[in-house]
Amino acid sequence: MAHDQIKKPRVLSGIQPSGNLTIGNYLGALKQWVAVQQEYDCFYCVVDLHAITMPQDPAELRQKTRESAAMYIAAGIDPDVSTIFVQSQIPAHSELAWMLTCMAPLGWLQRMTQFKDKSAKQAQESIGTGLLNYPSLMAADILLYHAELVPVGDDQRQHLEFTRDLAQRFNHLYGETFTLPSVMTPKAGARVMGLDNPTAKMSKSEDSDNHAIFLLDELPRARKKIMRAVTDSRREIRFSSDPERAGINNLLTIYQAISGDSREAIEAAFAGKGYGDLKRAVADCVLGTLEPLQTRYHQLMNEAGYLDAVLRGGREKAAAIAEDTLKLAQERVGFLAAT
Ligand code: TRP
Repeated sequence: MAHDQIKKPRVLSGIQPSGNLTIGNYLGALKQWVAVQQEYDCFYCVVDLHAITMPQDPAELRQKTRESAAMYIAAGIDPDVSTIFVQSQIPAHSELAWMLTCMAPLGWLQRMTQFKDKSAKQAQESIGTGLLNYPSLMAADILLYHAELVPVGDDQRQHLEFTRDLAQRFNHLYGETFTLPSVMTPKAGARVMGLDNPTAKMSKSEDSDNHAIFLLDELPRARKKIMRAVTDSRREIRFSSDPERAGINNLLTIYQAISGDSREAIEAAFAGKGYGDLKRAVADCVLGTLEPLQTRYHQLMNEAGYLDAVLRGGREKAAAIAEDTLKLAQERVGFLAAT
């Protein structure tokens, strides 16, 4: 069929298996990944090599890696349509990352906001250099697949610019090798903030109890967290960019991302209602999303061999592409091919 022969632009993205996935990961990334999978040739990886830039417990990392992959599928990514794989299972990621590391100026890496934030929390002497080189690895992930579009949140835009700059530098030094990627801006992507601290992005590796809704939270617990979310002492239920109103804005953002209703319609629906009403409505929406997702998740985790087969298939498909690109880059740089 002619229409199958038209090459779809390639999309690549990944999430670190460094904690349990949250409603923020779902509304900010996974939902978007699902929405574009028919239109693009999508590669979604579980980036465990990135996860070890911070200390991880080995058994837990292994478990979280499987859980993350299963959650991609439970969220609606169809392994017959998109390619799902584990980053560390494809050595080309590490190999290209090294080559790019050698080409990445220290100044560029030190300027990365994420590096500055994460390293500020540690003693200078003990900062792992993986944290510094993190963007070179991310660049390898993207460039190996000639991905044209990369759906990422605002916090990763700088890493994507870095990827473009590095790809350009490589192409300039060694000849056209890599495709320059662009950020894929979500149509209705939501940036979900912490429930306990609505001025910081919801994180899966935050310790405090009422910070995040995890996709595998028991439903009553998820509801309780929403009912306890930080708000303010005003009354109007309106979208707002005022930091003091970040809590209400966050609840409305979650509601909008799930319901798909317009801001105007949502504000109209809550006119004259109280914060308790809003929280109950958000909780109903969130639980309505979590319940079917959890059912699918448990079903596929209980199906012996299913997940392993998906990851094996994904690895084979991804590795074939990654190895071709790696080989080309190695040749360009001047590595002697093994005979
Ligand atoms: N750094 C990304 C994040 O923390 C995860 C990531 C790793 C990624 N490799 C990637 C995202 C490649 C997009 C493309 O969110």
